[in-house]
Amino acid sequence: MAVVIEELDPRKSTELVEEITRLEKKIFPKHESLSRSFEQEVRRKNSGLLYAKISTGGRGSVEIVGYVMYSWISSLCASITKLAVKENCRRKGYGEELLRAAIHKCRTRNIQRVCLHVDPERIPAVLLYKKLGFQIDEFIECYYSADRNAYRMYLEFNEQ
Ligand SMILES: CC(C)(COP(=O)(O)OP(=O)(O)OC[C@H]1O[C@@H](n2cnc3c(N)ncnc32)[C@H](O)[C@@H]1OP(=O)(O)O)[C@@H](O)C(=O)NCCC(=O)NCCS
Repeated sequence: MAVVIEELDPRKSTELVEEITRLEKKIFPKHESLSRSFEQEVRRKNSGLLYAKISTGGRGSVEIVGYVMYSWISSLCASITKLAVKENCRRKGYGEELLRAAIHKCRTRNIQRVCLHVDPERIPAVLLYKKLGFQIDEFIECYYSADRNAYRMYLEFNEQ
């Protein structure tokens, strides 16, 4: 099914923010939550969020199937802070489309490096990041909690 990727304008789309926040709570355990609340995070000036929607039949009804959140750490470096696709919509290419769109966004801002943290146990995510050229930089023990570690991964544009 054709997917459309759009940028969230949190000032105009309160309902969308609520819907994506519900998705976030369903998909991620508390220890992987962002330091601020998701809604606060979305509204930060140096953050952005792209979401993927598909049409679900007539009358213009759509379903949000996933989202990617990023933030600008500096003028040269961005971070992917969240990437998620609804469980029953996975393995259809939506996650890859979202990540490609976020990377494209970074490229248009002249960002040189995109980094992220991911739990090594999230194998689909690690494989997706590797597929799009991310490399593992560091293994960080107890990053999310006492028993949950992280890979720090990065994508360098001028290396490609
Ligand atoms: C990671 C996630 C976003 C992938 O979304 P998706 O829409 O299912 O992924 P896609 O269908 O676009 O797959 C793209 C690539 O990802 C990898 N991949 C995705 N799911 C995979 C799986 N179950 N097993 C192996 N590889 C997988 C593959 O490399 C795949 O490419 P391929 O189809 O050529 O093999 C999704 O699994 C998810 O939301 N997981 C829970 C949240 C999470 O872990 N987020 C990342 C940490 S913030």
